[in-house]
Amino acid sequence: MPRPGGVSLGRMAAVRVAPVPLLRGTLQVPSDKSLTHRALLLSAVSDREVRVGRPLDSADTGATLQAVEDCGVRVDGHLGDALLITGRGLRGLRPPPALGCANAGTLIRLIAGLLVGQSIDHVVLDGDESLRGRPMTRIARPLRAMGATIFTAPGGTPPLVVSGGAPLVGVEHHLEVASAQVKSCLLLAGLFAEGTTWVHEPVMSRDHTERMLEASGVAVLREGGAVGVTGPVERLALPDVDVPGDFSSAAAHLVAGALLGDPEVRLEGVNLNPARTGLLAVMRRMGVVIGEEAGKPVAGEPCGTLTVSRTEGLRATEVEPHEVPSMIDELPLVGLLGALASGTTVVRGAAELRVKESDRIASVVRALRALGVEAEEREDGFAVTGSGRIAGGAMESVGDHRLAMLGAVAGLVSEEGVSVGGFEAVAVSYPGFARDLAALGAVNA
Ligand code: S3P
Repeated sequence: MPRPGGVSLGRMAAVRVAPVPLLRGTLQVPSDKSLTHRALLLSAVSDREVRVGRPLDSADTGATLQAVEDCGVRVDGHLGDALLITGRGLRGLRPPPALGCANAGTLIRLIAGLLVGQSIDHVVLDGDESLRGRPMTRIARPLRAMGATIFTAPGGTPPLVVSGGAPLVGVEHHLEVASAQVKSCLLLAGLFAEGTTWVHEPVMSRDHTERMLEASGVAVLREGGAVGVTGPVERLALPDVDVPGDFSSAAAHLVAGALLGDPEVRLEGVNLNPARTGLLAVMRRMGVVIGEEAGKPVAGEPCGTLTVSRTEGLRATEVEPHEVPSMIDELPLVGLLGALASGTTVVRGAAELRVKESDRIASVVRALRALGVEAEEREDGFAVTGSGRIAGGAMESVGDHRLAMLGAVAGLVSEEGVSVGGFEAVAVSYPGFARDLAALGAVNA
């Protein structure tokens, strides 16, 4: 039996999370994954030595650090602390014949945008089994329209083969699905293209790349819903950056705090970019009171502190398609909240979840059902009918870090505890997740 409130490692990489009566305390959540990827990649092509403070130490960002070093970039220091990155200039990357991207969709898509501008021939970008299932035609086709040479595997998935150095031209791209990874890839390729590269999205996705490019001295154009860069850009100089806390990591504690916070759970130093924080509005509609104190901006991004307490009488809500991009990685947690709310919570317009680290429509519904929750798959989302309780049981992360976190939070609020198979997947974005949860629950351990 696990101790109450305890998170104990089982023999088979399954972690059993026992219920706790309450959570309380203050956390500094780990640094932002999206911003760390971008800081590493933009430092690598800067023509100065860039200090990146508090880069996230995780499997995903470790893959980006490795890729940057493999491209001949000198890096001193350590993830989680600070890195000194000696940029090689916008056209100075020298990748080996094969670059590994592990599980990181952000890495493979963003680095492809940089590599099409380098003097390289036949560089293979590949990753793990999950990455090999993810759609890349969405970058390959528009990059080709700009004149780039890039191939995917037959299903439109990795491995990608990129050759660079061909003349590129700016093109106006209309994305079918809002995607910061695709937008960023195209804007980065646009740095090397003659003329303006425009990206139109149905709904604006996170704009971290745009903010960081501007900080690096690149003029970013914004017109209506479109964003553009005019090339060719000669040089880029990312100033030293500190990476703020990750809203997506904070979200797991925010939901746990809404269910168990007593007197409160406090999350400090969190990136509050409005293109990331859609979950706040959804939770408020469900009846959760969330305190938000603005702090000093970090890396050109709004940041602050969030506080939340246990909320009785959660109400179901509908997440509309236009809300999806601002909470794309938090939608699994909405399913969990829905299980504890009265009524049916519905997520619509989120077919994109099918091509994340797992098919998150299928995997969330499967996990919730395994814990005794009434949940139903829809083509473009899911519906969860709350009973106000989660019985508990055993579920699988299917190698997806967001599912592993969902399972752990479910365990804390469940009646019998939850065993999370493949819990180690949390290391993709949040290796210290169990330790931080235990710190919040330790008052009763
Ligand atoms: C990310 C963008 C999102 C998100 C992913 C990180 C980024 O993906 O799901 O975890 O860093 O740009 P899409 O832009 O493909 O929706």
